[in-house]
Amino acid sequence: MLGDDENNGVLRGCAQCTFGVFEEQAAKNTNREILVEFDKAVQGLTADIISHTAFGSSYKLGMEAFHAQKELQAIAISSLLNVQIPGFSYLPTRRNRLKWMLEKKLRSTLMRIINSRLASRGSGYGNDLLGLMLEACTTTEQGGKQEQLSLSMDEILHECKTFFFAGYETTSILLTWTVFLLSVYPEWQERLRAEVLREVGKGNPSGDNLGKLKEMTMVLHETLRLYGPALFMQRKTVTDMVVGAITIPNDHAVVIGAPFMHRDKKVWGEDADQFNPMRFANGVARAAKVPHALLAFSIGPKACIGQNFAMLEAKSVMATVLQKFSFALSPSYVHAPADFLTLQPKFGLPVVMKLLDV
Ligand code: HEM
Repeated sequence: MLGDDENNGVLRGCAQCTFGVFEEQAAKNTNREILVEFDKAVQGLTADIISHTAFGSSYKLGMEAFHAQKELQAIAISSLLNVQIPGFSYLPTRRNRLKWMLEKKLRSTLMRIINSRLASRGSGYGNDLLGLMLEACTTTEQGGKQEQLSLSMDEILHECKTFFFAGYETTSILLTWTVFLLSVYPEWQERLRAEVLREVGKGNPSGDNLGKLKEMTMVLHETLRLYGPALFMQRKTVTDMVVGAITIPNDHAVVIGAPFMHRDKKVWGEDADQFNPMRFANGVARAAKVPHALLAFSIGPKACIGQNFAMLEAKSVMATVLQKFSFALSPSYVHAPADFLTLQPKFGLPVVMKLLDV
């Protein structure tokens, strides 16, 4: 992906843009407050960030592809519980036609981005995610160059979609629940603000000073434990297995529910249901009775490849918010965490943000 400095530049730029607008609006109000639908604001922000990171200069087309993919995702979620009638997906119903149109648009937009990159080969593919992927596709195992791409166009398209899908919503949800918890626990909001002002000051966060935000890291880990965006992971057994008292035959699907594991008192202690970031004071591996108890990014060979980026992104955005605003839940907030494939606040997260005195 982009180098650390470039990543930081993207993160900073996008966050300053979003919260700069809120800052201006709040400054116009006599009470210096503004009501923000925080979940929606950070969704736009993380989409912006992943589009810049993945597609760099082709960012605008990337956002078009992103919007098409998001609509497709909404269609998929809304038809999740429908009875599946064989052949129905081939009928030209209104929904199917919309789906086909969006799929076509998504494919053609991504193809335009990829083809223009392939055409610019002489000057390098670029140092964003797509550029690095294309570079890797034309590099042989011995480090030489080859004409033929080692991934097919469909595989490259699929990777682009995966990065959008995996990379934007999860991080926006992490930010949403972090702001929820810091609103409910204002003492932690104050602690984190003090840490940000001490380590980062009022200027732009950098990779170096974000790395010093220890309490912020603890709060993000505790948020991932209590309100982790990814709810379930699926695996398939490749041999007969015995896990504790359960025997699982070969070729069976196993669903691992992170929320159950994350609130297990045998693993996390009697306060498993409480918000206690201090449990992460000595690192993730020592937070519970077993070292791999936090499954928010999964573990093993299928673990999230974007986890360091996600943590950096979350710290950068939270640092920007805490530098500028104090915040509290709006009285209209209704607590209803819901399973939309990821764990989301069903009725959103309306937050009252108050501009801090400079
Ligand atoms: C808070 C943010 C995030 C969370 C909680 C999260 C969580 C996860 C989890 C649990 C998995 C494993 C799924 C499984 O085991 O079946 C995963 C995989 C993945 N994540 Fe993330 N993720 C986050 C952010 C990101 C970001 C920012 C990116 C990209 C920039 C990303 C890219 C990926 C990819 C490509 C995979 C698939 C890896 C593979 O199958 O080999 N994720 N993520």
